[in-house]
Amino acid sequence: MNLEERRLTAEETYKNDRAHVIHSWSVQSKLKPIVMTEAKGCYFWDGNGKRFLDMYSQVVNLNIGHQHPKVVKAIQDQAAKICFCAPGIAVEPRSTLAKLLSEVTPEGMNHFFFTNGGADANENAIKIARMATGKSKIISRYRSYHGSTYGAVTLTGEPRRTHVEPGMPGVVRVFDPYCYRCIFGKEYGSCKMECVSHVEEVIKFEDPNTIAGFIMEGVTGSNGIFIPPPEYYTGIRDLCTKYNIMFIDDEVMSGFGRTGEWFAVDNFGVVPDIMTVAKGINSGYVPLGAVCLTDKVSDAIYDRYLSCGLTYSGHPLACAAAVATITAYKEEKIIENAKEQGKLILKRMEDMKAKHKCVGDVRNIGVFGCIELVKNRETKEPIIPWNGSGEVMDKVNASFVEDGMYMDIRWNWIFVVPPCIIKAEEVEEAFVAIDRALSIADNYVE
Ligand SMILES: Cc1ncc(COP(=O)(O)O)c(C=O)c1O
Repeated sequence: MNLEERRLTAEETYKNDRAHVIHSWSVQSKLKPIVMTEAKGCYFWDGNGKRFLDMYSQVVNLNIGHQHPKVVKAIQDQAAKICFCAPGIAVEPRSTLAKLLSEVTPEGMNHFFFTNGGADANENAIKIARMATGKSKIISRYRSYHGSTYGAVTLTGEPRRTHVEPGMPGVVRVFDPYCYRCIFGKEYGSCKMECVSHVEEVIKFEDPNTIAGFIMEGVTGSNGIFIPPPEYYTGIRDLCTKYNIMFIDDEVMSGFGRTGEWFAVDNFGVVPDIMTVAKGINSGYVPLGAVCLTDKVSDAIYDRYLSCGLTYSGHPLACAAAVATITAYKEEKIIENAKEQGKLILKRMEDMKAKHKCVGDVRNIGVFGCIELVKNRETKEPIIPWNGSGEVMDKVNASFVEDGMYMDIRWNWIFVVPPCIIKAEEVEEAFVAIDRALSIADNYVE
């Protein structure tokens, strides 16, 4: 059988998939995956020719959109030249990428350890933080996701971690800056940033001499898009400096233009010690992640044996894709576009809040947004419970599918996370569907 004969129809693809493929984060027996047969820019098509507007950027990673011709060509050209070389060898796309990263990451971040994705970037960040400080514990936050490998999922605070507990020892969790539902019962503006001062309390109780790192997402992604007040960022930075704790900024989801800046941290004028990236680094065209180190952290480990290693660290095809992606971000002003379209998205979100009583809160930065649905605006009771499911969101989801919208819905949140290349007319198209879905949810308001 030659390659062409092995090509499947959409129907055969579906059949084989259901017979043999085990998918992430799902109950296998309930899955009915869309078969993607074609994709371009912000759209993709299924086997019946139905078009979907990709408002989820696949997994919030396809920042440059589907099938960018220059990235496709860069992978093809690299494949024709050198498909693979060992991590210990120097190779042109890896070197070029490291240089490019040193230009776009925060000031003083000039050293990069490449990984296969986000989870292993966080795993290795922790190893490096431990090595650089000689300490072991890591502080993370409850409303967070840092990956699904054993260490990374222990850093994760949300329910995906509980399936593998007790997990990795030495992780301590703190509360998040979720201003709409402030756990300290305060309003931003009149609060005393208790979300920062309580972190200091935890540091003292845990003993600062035992804490290697504090990890947080640049802007919290899959747990509801929390854009922290600027004082939060500076407060955490100051605490980390004061107690010699590595500030580990997980930019796996929020990096590479998602927030309208290269990295979420750039919105806050703070430099972390270690930054982890993946997803948007090459828009997922080939798996890749990186641990980014400041000169200071690199200096602390440079003369010692690095006990971190991956066969595919800095894979030439992945690096070539990243070089082309970063070049396109620059040349095509894709990050500026994300910022610009973000203003329109926020405006449309606010229109939705004014029109629909099921909308409790809206949050957006760049193309990183969330609409939070409630049963009652006064009590803020979520329209379905946290970590729960319910008829209302099933109906909202069905409405999106009917309207050809590929959306991410989680509990009472509707995410608005399109590729950074989205155009104004595509934003408007999305909000026609969002408006219709919210009218359905309005029926569930008490
Ligand atoms: C903030 C954050 N960190 C880490 C990860 C894990 O990345 P990966 O799935 O590439 O391992 C994710 C994935 O969604 C993420 O959102």
